[in-house]
Amino acid sequence: MVNEIFSMRGRFISLEGSEGSGKSTNLEYIQQWLMQVGKEVVLTREPGGTSLGESIRELLLDKKQTAMLDDTELLLMFTARAQHIGEVIEPALAAGKWVLCDRFTDATYAYQGGGRGIDTSRIASLENWVQGDMRPDLTILLDIPVEQGLKRASQTGAPDRFEQEKTAFFERVRAKYLEMATLESNRYRVIDATPSLAQVQQSIDEMLTAYVKQP
Ligand code: TMP
Repeated sequence: MVNEIFSMRGRFISLEGSEGSGKSTNLEYIQQWLMQVGKEVVLTREPGGTSLGESIRELLLDKKQTAMLDDTELLLMFTARAQHIGEVIEPALAAGKWVLCDRFTDATYAYQGGGRGIDTSRIASLENWVQGDMRPDLTILLDIPVEQGLKRASQTGAPDRFEQEKTAFFERVRAKYLEMATLESNRYRVIDATPSLAQVQQSIDEMLTAYVKQP
């Protein structure tokens, strides 16, 4: 009976990637892929995913917020996350749905930790407080060299508060993602986002085919 209850729980997949890695296009591809194999998918994003969280997102991305302190930014990320988990993610997983989330706490380690230089232990204490032992079951990282990603990203709209950061910031973000991927290789799958979209999606296809077979 207990096993039955556990097996009904859905899976929690997060998608991470640096600027210009094709995250939005591939998010949609992953969602369609999972739906085609019969999963009920809840697509959501961070910061955001709830009405309250989307309001916090506006503050976080707003270029006019030039006085925002690094700690304020960090706490706002986790404020939005607490609401998101309680209102959207946990109920969906408990109902057996698969949650596909555009970024999650790894982005906090990468951007606020790697990028801004906030100590990892402070992020970890907030993570434990807000999430308990809840972590993504699978984290897909779309990886691309910074220069190449920024070149691609510059072809889309006006930069937000994060996108206007310098190359060195994004180098630290990427390094942190790759470090986490190495340390947590069971949870992470790194996809090389430099080839053509068709090739990237073939890699995603192969990776997901193997993943959904896992018990
Ligand atoms: P997006 O551009 O992928 O929608 O994400 C919005 C920005 O928020 C992106 O530049 C990364 C940043 N971010 C953080 O800095 N920390 C976080 O914890 C999350 C979820 C996003």
